[in-house]
Amino acid sequence: MSKMETTMIEFQDVEKTYDTGGVPVHALNEVNLNVAEGEFVAVIGPSGSGKSTLLTVLGAMNPATSGQVLIDDIDIYALSTEQQADFRHEYIGFVFQQLQLLPYLTAQENVLLGLVIAKLRRADKISRAREVLERVGLKGKEGRLPYQLSGGEQGRVAVARAIVNEPPLILADEPTGNLDRATGKQVLDLLRDLNHAGHTVLMVSHDTQAAQVAGRVVSILDGQIIDDVTVPSAV
Ligand SMILES: Nc1ncnc2c1ncn2[C@@H]1O[C@H](COP(=O)(O)OP(=O)(O)O)[C@@H](O)[C@H]1O
Ligand SMILES: [Mg+2]
Repeated sequence: MSKMETTMIEFQDVEKTYDTGGVPVHALNEVNLNVAEGEFVAVIGPSGSGKSTLLTVLGAMNPATSGQVLIDDIDIYALSTEQQADFRHEYIGFVFQQLQLLPYLTAQENVLLGLVIAKLRRADKISRAREVLERVGLKGKEGRLPYQLSGGEQGRVAVARAIVNEPPLILADEPTGNLDRATGKQVLDLLRDLNHAGHTVLMVSHDTQAAQVAGRVVSILDGQIIDDVTVPSAV
């Protein structure tokens, strides 16, 4: 990371221990990580290595046991619960593996969920939702229900919902996990385009192929960062 770049994310000695009543699980051990604004980082590692924990801790959804998580110099776990909710809404768009589209809502209505608490008039929310669906290549399909869309299209609806509020940071947890290779690639290409448009992207994957769109690959094993490689060809 050069001095010209602005640090967006800082993990400082972050530990996360899950207390399950039996043996505590140390999901993150002494994690230190800096991510600059505008980076596309893939976090890879086997199942159970702590990837989702890293992402939810970063997403102000899962407090660290110790250490600090700063985003744009804001100590996210020093905020009140209400401030955290506002922060999430303003800063972060989430894309999950299970996509989590509501099956009885149309593509447009699913995207509108990303604007539920935005202070916009209904008509403006609808035009934003339609614009973002067009941007992900779904113009004309706004009124379809999820089952009337292909897997790749559903993935793009999920991404549209995550970005409709224009968050600076996009967090994606195995966004291609349930998709075949070709449709998964559509979602990865879309994340790459968003990154080129200025969004910082952190994507978790157990698939090293998926990591190829990223400019930097961070490997995690047993809750520890074991490798951190910048990929010049991808930038
Ligand atoms: N809510 C939880 N309660 C207890 N243990 C958990 C919880 N979430 C995750 N874990 C454990 O923490 C470790 C890391 O899990 P996770 O972050 O989901 O890994 P990954 O996403 O890489 O598969 C695993 O051992 C998992 O079983
Ligand atoms: Mg996971």
